[in-house]
Amino acid sequence: MMSRIISIANFKGGVGKTTTAINLAAGLVKRKQKVLLIDLDPQANLTQSQGLIDGIEASVYTVLRKEALGEKARLLDAKVQVRQLDFIPSTLELANAELELASVYGREQILAQLLKAVTMYDFVLIDCPPSIGLLTINALVASQYVLIPLQAEFLPLEGVRSFLKHFESIKKLNQNLELLGLILTKYDARKNMNRNVKARLEREFPNGQVFKSLIRTNIALAKAQEAGTDIFNFNRRSHGALDYDELTKEFLMKIKTKNKR
Ligand SMILES: Nc1ncnc2c1ncn2[C@@H]1O[C@H](COP(=O)(O)OP(=O)(O)OP(=O)(O)O)[C@@H](O)[C@H]1O
Ligand SMILES: [Mg+2]
Repeated sequence: MMSRIISIANFKGGVGKTTTAINLAAGLVKRKQKVLLIDLDPQANLTQSQGLIDGIEASVYTVLRKEALGEKARLLDAKVQVRQLDFIPSTLELANAELELASVYGREQILAQLLKAVTMYDFVLIDCPPSIGLLTINALVASQYVLIPLQAEFLPLEGVRSFLKHFESIKKLNQNLELLGLILTKYDARKNMNRNVKARLEREFPNGQVFKSLIRTNIALAKAQEAGTDIFNFNRRSHGALDYDELTKEFLMKIKTKNKR
């Protein structure tokens, strides 16, 4: 069986990529899915929000580097187990990768190569950095689907359009890549702006690409991240837990209908 590989990406910072990565992964594990979560961001926020950071020897950086140098590299050598989740941590050193890998032959496909051997998961989720560098390109080239979290505070359409332009270029390297959906985060229905952005997105993407599940603004999500855990473990009755549980259900439904086609 092939693992389904999903990138969580947006070139804009602070839109809830990492929060979605950790809590969707936890939601899937709760529903008995086998999940590998990869931190591909040199900021290593996801690694920190898993309560890790000190004493990491193997990371996504060490493995990418080995693979790029033509040495025998296995992604799962960097795996750590966090609760019931398999996790590949990042370190600040990953910032070097953008430069170090730039001159490597097949530099856009290094992660895809490594993931070929990773077949035992239902889902592999990749948390991307907020930029269109070599790391995000590697993630998108390795993926079947992309999820785009967006904040409804600002008019995010420009950002999404620019993303989709790059998306079309990346499809030349990976024809299988599909937009799975746009996820509205930090949502507050009392704010006109939020409701307007939602309506506009739904008009712009009329084929159900906008997830119906909204992630409301909820301080427990930020606190869980600070406490080094997911929202279900932190406070399973919070809005954040309810919203990410709904999102997980909708995500699984979407994947199911995609498979039928
Ligand atoms: N729904 C939410 N309600 C309240 N706070 C949230 C919510 N989602 C995310 N946050 C908080 O907002 C901040 C940014 O979120 P997050 O780190 O997930 O964004 P990101 O897109 O991964 O950022 P970056 O681009 O820097 O990687 C974090 O402090 C996070 O805890
Ligand atoms: Mg992040």
